[in-house]
Amino acid sequence: MRLFRFCAVFGHALLPSIASASQQQPLLEATSEARSASQWKFNYSSEAPHYFASAYGLLQQWPNTFFPNGHSLVPCEIPPFTKLYHGRRDGDVPPSPEWFAFDIGMSYGIMGSSRDSHMLTYQTTRRVKCIYFDGESATLFGTGQLDSQNLHIWGNTSGPSRPGNGFRGLWEEYARATGLCDWFQEQKLGGPGWGYEGIVRMNAGFEMIWCNFSSPSIRLISHLNITAPLLPKQDEEVIVKAQDDSTLTSYYPLPPSPTRSDRATDPANPPVPPVNNPPWIREPFFHSQAWAWYSSATTHYGSNGDGPGRPETHVKPMSCGFLSYYGPDFLSQALPRAQEEQKSLNLTKDGLWTGPGKSGSRAKAMESLTRRRRYHTLDSITPSDASIMRVNSERVLRDLSSDSPANCSGIDWSTMTNDIVQTYGSSLFRFLNTLERFENVTITNLTSVRDWMIDVRDETHSFLLPFLEYPDDDANDNIWTRDSSLFKTTYSRCRYQFTRLLDPEEGISLGPEESLLQWSVEETTGGICSVLVDVGLAVEGLWEANFNVPIKETSKPEVPTQFKNEVSRWTEGIEQLMAWLGWAGEWVRCEQRCAWDESCFIPMWPMIPFRGGRGGGRGPPRREPGHGGPPGGRPGGRLSVFDELFAFDDPPNNRTFRPPGRGFNPWQPNEDDLWTPKCVKSDYILTGRG
Ligand SMILES: *[C@@H]1O[C@H](CO)[C@@H](O)[C@H](O)[C@H]1NC(C)=O
Ligand SMILES: *[C@@H]1O[C@H](CO)[C@@H](O)[C@H](O)[C@H]1NC(C)=O
Ligand SMILES: *[C@@H]1O[C@H](CO)[C@@H](O)[C@H](O)[C@H]1NC(C)=O
Ligand SMILES: *[C@@H]1O[C@H](CO)[C@@H](O)[C@H](O)[C@H]1NC(C)=O
Ligand SMILES: *[C@@H]1O[C@H](CO)[C@@H](O)[C@H](O)[C@H]1NC(C)=O
Ligand SMILES: *[C@@H]1O[C@H](CO)[C@@H](O)[C@H](O)[C@H]1NC(C)=O
Ligand SMILES: *[C@@H]1O[C@H](CO)[C@@H](O)[C@H](O)[C@H]1NC(C)=O
Ligand SMILES: *[C@@H]1O[C@H](CO)[C@@H](O)[C@H](O)[C@H]1NC(C)=O
Ligand SMILES: *[C@@H]1O[C@H](CO)[C@@H](O)[C@H](O)[C@H]1NC(C)=O
Repeated sequence: MRLFRFCAVFGHALLPSIASASQQQPLLEATSEARSASQWKFNYSSEAPHYFASAYGLLQQWPNTFFPNGHSLVPCEIPPFTKLYHGRRDGDVPPSPEWFAFDIGMSYGIMGSSRDSHMLTYQTTRRVKCIYFDGESATLFGTGQLDSQNLHIWGNTSGPSRPGNGFRGLWEEYARATGLCDWFQEQKLGGPGWGYEGIVRMNAGFEMIWCNFSSPSIRLISHLNITAPLLPKQDEEVIVKAQDDSTLTSYYPLPPSPTRSDRATDPANPPVPPVNNPPWIREPFFHSQAWAWYSSATTHYGSNGDGPGRPETHVKPMSCGFLSYYGPDFLSQALPRAQEEQKSLNLTKDGLWTGPGKSGSRAKAMESLTRRRRYHTLDSITPSDASIMRVNSERVLRDLSSDSPANCSGIDWSTMTNDIVQTYGSSLFRFLNTLERFENVTITNLTSVRDWMIDVRDETHSFLLPFLEYPDDDANDNIWTRDSSLFKTTYSRCRYQFTRLLDPEEGISLGPEESLLQWSVEETTGGICSVLVDVGLAVEGLWEANFNVPIKETSKPEVPTQFKNEVSRWTEGIEQLMAWLGWAGEWVRCEQRCAWDESCFIPMWPMIPFRGGRGGGRGPPRREPGHGGPPGGRPGGRLSVFDELFAFDDPPNNRTFRPPGRGFNPWQPNEDDLWTPKCVKSDYILTGRG
């Protein structure tokens, strides 16, 4: 029975007091009882993992699409000579404020394919400052994506009440833009040519509200009428013109610097989509433009199930000024949220998970825990909490516009948090899969058990490698358990691997924003290390006691249930850790590799193909969008936003336009499309097929 001498090894991890008293006893009866209650005590009510996840996701399309309701804002900078695109449906230069896209695909996607489409390309002339609202913060028909901006401007999520029927589609956009730009001016945080001049947001791609187009911080470098000749009507003759192919070697002349200085305002009436004979029917690039817009967004997917990826690199977050409603100050949201999640996720008052219940499925429960952040909103933030955020942000923006900010250590928190996700994101998923393979190990076959154990140990070893020093041979059996000194030192090295030098005793003192980042990093690494060091040491102990010996195929050992129990303890630990971290997007990808003419699609507003009858889907709780698509009947498979965006020059008609705002949202993506993304071809965006 040498092979399975368990007691000393994992008894302790379960019941330290009993174990230390009974080191030499073969099998602990108490163990099975201890197993039924979860040993892993994750606090699912803690905001720390959300704070962390929000910080690592900055400027990455993928995580912000899975978690669309932004809670955070961060000051940012844009380097000189960055290109910015402004598309229009007229030949004018823009009033102010107006919008820039960082990708031409996005600009053309919104403003192309009309009879008077124009593209203005600008470049920044200096380093420009901005602020960035995370989440899908430019989703105009949403379920909370605009809340952090609205709170900033108006102190509530609804904004000013309007005469008439309230919701006005795209039309609060100018009020929001002006609200934020005026705030910069009033607080003396920025103005034309200095300080903060733009607000960065995301829908399918990143865009920026630019406060003043007369600012010397930007220069117009081309202004083109990009209206393309229409496709012929049926049977119409096509006249092909000869090309002028003279070549130019000199710089092209710059267009004059625009002098337009009027204010942009919300139009008086909401746009109403045309119903019949849409004007774009003969536009030659109508089909490719949607795909080009979508594709441009995929270039900054960032971190996802295929590993790290490029974020929107034109915008550099100044992470030492990161501010988030997940911070411990904002109890007006945290308390009701904790209460609600106690009910919906079966948590105790302390945030501990009580299990899936008698009838519930464990896998489903894990899934809801892992995805819980998706349904967070800022509904309950009080005006006074909103004003705390605003005042904090003014202090931070002012500090970071100085040449020597008072509170910026220089730590790149974006890189640090992304390092952590890269180190543990996919490797935890892989490790879970290795553990789950145990169910297929022939447990009576020692070689087979040992082979599996080698795989497990390879992985735990790489987790512990930076932190573990193997103890002397004569260390006692107790050494591999949770209350050994080996555990404590290994755990501490693991937990503080990024922040050891931030101990105040090292003479470092961080400002309030970086202190919270430090807290969220340490809580996160703490959660990770608590499971990985425990499991890793237990694996070492089992290995040393039972596997690090020559195998004799002739021996026919019984595998005690304790070994199986121990393996399921590890598995549960990793599952609960992953659920607690909630990095759901990191564990989602297209299972097949996409072909050259395909792309891995997730629905990003407004790239949400509507399939007649099937739209809606399961939305966030309390926000039942439900029913099959938008009111008034939409022809199957048109890209939803195009109806709205293309409505600019069309006279209003009588189509009913129900307010999509809260509680109703025709653009609610189908949740399955999000969680099981698949490779699609270019037709998919417009048709929902392919
Ligand atoms: C842009 O070009 C289109 C097509 O040639 C033309 O109809 C339109 O008038 C032009 N717009 C301006 C402002 O010149
Ligand atoms: C939200 O704030 C605006 C501006 O402060 C105010 O006009 C409006 O009445 C408020 N709405 C609610 C529902 O309190
Ligand atoms: C933009 O800046 C110019 C020059 O400083 C100023 O005249 C104009 O009023 C500003 N426009 C807006 C909308 O703030
Ligand atoms: C879990 O976190 C919440 C929110 O911070 C806190 O109120 C609660 O006391 C924590 N539970 C434990 C067991 O620490
Ligand atoms: C909570 O309990 C219910 C009923 O037992 C179950 O259906 C659900 O999956 C559980 N959810 C979680 C997150 O445990
Ligand atoms: C166990 O083997 C079965 C049959 O080959 C397979 O379907 C299943 O996915 C395997 N389980 C794991 C966790 O690998
Ligand atoms: C035990 O497992 C090993 C490796 O999986 C295999 O090669 C061997 O044939 C098995 N032995 C028996 C007796 O099934
Ligand atoms: C810098 O941090 C200190 C210590 O937390 C704080 O008192 C001070 O208000 C901060 N200053 C700024 C400009 O953020
Ligand atoms: C549509 O609008 C027109 C003009 O406002 C009006 O005369 C007509 O009665 C409306 N039709 C319907 C069905 O509401």
